Amino acid sequence: MTNKSSLLFLFLFPQLIFLHAYSDLDTLLNLKSSLVGPSGSGLHDWVAPQPSNPYAHCSFSGVTCDANSHVISLNITNVPLFGTLSSDIGLLDKLINLTLAANNLTGPLPSEMSKLTSLKNVNLSWNGFNGTFPSEMVLKLTELEVFDVYNNNFMGNLPGEFVKLKKLKFLKLAGNYFSGEIPEIYSEFNSLTHLALQGNSLTGRIPASLAMIPNLEELYLGYFNVYEGGIPPEFGTISTLQLLDLGMCNLTGEIPASLGNLKHLHTLFLQVNNLTGNIPPELSGLISLMSLDLSINNLSGEIPETFSELTNLTLINLFQNKFQGPLPKFIGDLPNLEVLQIWNNNFTLGLPENLGTSGRLILLDVTKNHITGTIPKNLCQGGRLKTLILMDNYFYGPIPNELGECMSLTRIRIKKNFLNGTIPSGFFKLPMLDMMELNDNFFTGELPDEITATSLGSVDLSNNWITGKIPREIGNLINLEILSLDMNKFYGEIPREVFDLKKLSKLNFSGNGLSGGIPVSIERDSHLTFIDLSRNSLDGEIPKSICGIQNLNVLNLSSNKLDGEIPGEIGLMKSLTILDLSYNDFTGRRPSVGLLKDLDDRFFAGNPKLCPPRATFCPSVSSPHNSHNKSHLSKIVILIIVLITILSLLPGILFMFRRRRLEKSKAWRLTAFQRLDFRVEDVLECLKEENIIGKGGAGTVYRGSMSNGIDVAIKRLIARGNSNSHNDRGFMAEIQTLGRIRHRNIVRLIGYVSNKDTNLLLYEYMSHGSLGEMIHGSKGAHLQWESRYRIAVEAAKGLCYLHHDCSPSIIHRDVKSNNILLDSDYEAHVADFGLAKFFHDAGASECMSSIAGSYGYIAPEYAYTLKVDQKSDVYSFGVVLLELITGRKPVGGFGDGVDIVRWVRKTTSELSQPSDVASVLAVVDSRLTGYPLTGAVNLFKIAMLCVEDESSARPTMREVVHMLTNPPKSALNHLTSL
Ligand SMILES: *[C@@H]1O[C@H](CO)[C@@H](O)[C@H](O)[C@H]1NC(C)=O
Ligand SMILES: *[C@@H]1O[C@H](CO)[C@@H](O)[C@H](O)[C@H]1NC(C)=O
Ligand SMILES: *[C@@H]1O[C@H](CO)[C@@H](O)[C@H](O)[C@H]1NC(C)=O
Repeated sequence: MTNKSSLLFLFLFPQLIFLHAYSDLDTLLNLKSSLVGPSGSGLHDWVAPQPSNPYAHCSFSGVTCDANSHVISLNITNVPLFGTLSSDIGLLDKLINLTLAANNLTGPLPSEMSKLTSLKNVNLSWNGFNGTFPSEMVLKLTELEVFDVYNNNFMGNLPGEFVKLKKLKFLKLAGNYFSGEIPEIYSEFNSLTHLALQGNSLTGRIPASLAMIPNLEELYLGYFNVYEGGIPPEFGTISTLQLLDLGMCNLTGEIPASLGNLKHLHTLFLQVNNLTGNIPPELSGLISLMSLDLSINNLSGEIPETFSELTNLTLINLFQNKFQGPLPKFIGDLPNLEVLQIWNNNFTLGLPENLGTSGRLILLDVTKNHITGTIPKNLCQGGRLKTLILMDNYFYGPIPNELGECMSLTRIRIKKNFLNGTIPSGFFKLPMLDMMELNDNFFTGELPDEITATSLGSVDLSNNWITGKIPREIGNLINLEILSLDMNKFYGEIPREVFDLKKLSKLNFSGNGLSGGIPVSIERDSHLTFIDLSRNSLDGEIPKSICGIQNLNVLNLSSNKLDGEIPGEIGLMKSLTILDLSYNDFTGRRPSVGLLKDLDDRFFAGNPKLCPPRATFCPSVSSPHNSHNKSHLSKIVILIIVLITILSLLPGILFMFRRRRLEKSKAWRLTAFQRLDFRVEDVLECLKEENIIGKGGAGTVYRGSMSNGIDVAIKRLIARGNSNSHNDRGFMAEIQTLGRIRHRNIVRLIGYVSNKDTNLLLYEYMSHGSLGEMIHGSKGAHLQWESRYRIAVEAAKGLCYLHHDCSPSIIHRDVKSNNILLDSDYEAHVADFGLAKFFHDAGASECMSSIAGSYGYIAPEYAYTLKVDQKSDVYSFGVVLLELITGRKPVGGFGDGVDIVRWVRKTTSELSQPSDVASVLAVVDSRLTGYPLTGAVNLFKIAMLCVEDESSARPTMREVVHMLTNPPKSALNHLTSL
């Protein structure tokens, strides 16, 4: 063909030019069918054009074409997509940018990606891609500059092939399950500026040779990687380094002084390791340093004087170490300091007087040191201070009035000091203040009349010397939940307005000089759970309206001058558990309805005019007819027997009935969170009675052996009482989230099977059952100290992950020994997390309370606040630790109403010569034969911290893990044979 005729040819058949481009359209449509997965969603405008149009795909959302209608960029972010990336991607061979971030894609990366030889930027972060990484594919991508697969589920060793890509600048393999060592060959990168490997399962030593990467600027290696050894001193030679993040990866040894050579370093994160020794003074060479985090290590010594040169510092975190000495004066002069957190150390003397003068300070936390002196007056000079925490120190003198003008404050926690003077009246006007904790000081004076701090949720002024009347303007604090004014010198009447506060749940006015009556107008919809008005001079009758408070749990009116008859309705208050009416002036017969019937006499003591319920000398009240009662009783007994018989037959009938229904219903769907080599039928096949391995709060668990030899645990959820579709969607979303969670100490959810009315969750099978069965069963004696301690650590790590490393963070809600499962190596895995909230109303099992959690494990604040948070899990975990130490069940063995926590407290408080060792010996499991006594003391102390009544006093799970894995040195020696 001549040139001319070929032109003519093209003129006649223009679409041939676009032959290739048109196939990009097909490719995209094919890609779409796997990207959206079977459930659809996303990419709505990716449709075949009508009439056909060869450019159509270039206007698909997320698609960019070149002049020839070749796709050069795909950017689909946060759509979300639920499918997989098919091998068709290899056909888009002009692709330069590929961004499929923050979707929910799963499956492996197709090896056909090796055909995308023009690729420069790849971002597949925040998906569920899995499998081993297709390393050979990498070799072909010679143009690659950016490669980001952050937060996926890749496994295996880190691919070494990346070093062959001479243009690669940015490599982020963080947040996956890569294991093994960091390859030495990574030292051969030559253009790399960012290397992010944090959040994997890497081990071994950190290779010093990484220091040879010539232009490295940011290096992230920490979080869940567990290395041997310490920080390579060679890192001090990476002269281009700007950011070094080695947080939380088990580093030991000292901080190398050579790091002081890093002139461009702006961020140094070494927190949560086992670093020891002093801060090397040479670090003053870090002239660009802005953020320094050395918290939660074993560092000691003083802050080096040479640090005065680090004038760029904005963040200093030194908390939870063994630092000592005074806080150097220059800290107050750092012109850019915003955050200073040094809690839990041994710092002494005063805070630098100039602290805050720079006008930049936002957060100051010096809790639990030995700091004394007065509070510097310029802390809020710039009007930016949000959080001021000085609690548990030796501060004295008044609070500077300047702080009362600090409009930015959200939190003031300065309890347990020696402060005096009047509380600045401005505190009660701060618009953003949420928490005011000034208890256990020596404050005097009166509260102001002007109270407008409407964000306040919690005010604690207890145990001071504050006087005057309780201002009625307290009623302005519409968001107040906790008001503690106990143990002061307040007098006058209780303002009625306090009881109008809709959100108030805890009210404590005990130990003051209050007089007059209890206001009668208490709203029925009040949220009060705790009222303590004891030890005042209140008079008059108990207002009946108190009996209408639905959630009231504690009512203490003791030691007042109340009179009149005790309203019998009090006994009918369903949630009331503590009632103290002692030392008043009540008259008439003591009612014996409901709660009042079983209440110990001492809660009525000191009321000389009150007759006991059955006393003969109260003639005005007639005694009940006993015979009448008896016949009633026998009827009730018969009724109960009939009911029990019916109920015991019911499960069998229901089971047969349900199974039949199960088989009939065909619309089953299997959703897998990892590769599964079996079918729905295989799963259903296993739902036989003989396969039942447990029944829990949320349903029945079966063991399933799949045809490919893999064992799974199948949990059939009980039908949820109020399962409307809205609720179901929440449930499904939750399941999706849970399916993405991967942690060594968490039982993996590998998939679920559902149809219209049944949900089956598939979990990894744990062959040694639960810790509860183990320790409370006949095999308990085999579980010796080392194993118990290891299980404690592993379970703590699992919970810690749920609380602190999942986003959004997950509250377990039902931590108990029966939910800690042991695999074939007896490694502990936390099971059944995050689901309890969907089963409140079902009342599924006797061991699960109707509210949240299981009896014996429920944190006390639940009764007051009806809220669960991470700290409620910590309490439950403390109970598990006590089970490990004592070998006893949380409830049942100690008599009515006593649980393991109360039993331990009682037993240890009755010791004639109390000490930690004596306490442990008094409660320890007698089946333990040889164990390190100091180790047991350590575990015991941690357990008791976790079960503190006050949730704020409990450690976080992160702190628990730290305490468990860093026992005091003495806890490791002294093997005591008992
Ligand atoms: C991809 O699109 C998002 C918005 O949808 C945008 O924020 C992001 O910068 C884009 N990325 C690239 C690499 O073009
Ligand atoms: C590819 O991404 C880079 C970096 O985000 C951007 O600068 C470039 O314009 C993108 N190219 C195309 C063709 O979208
Ligand atoms: C999809 O993934 C995002 C994070 O990448 C997550 O927040 C979201 O909950 C997931 N959606 C579902 C339905 O699982």
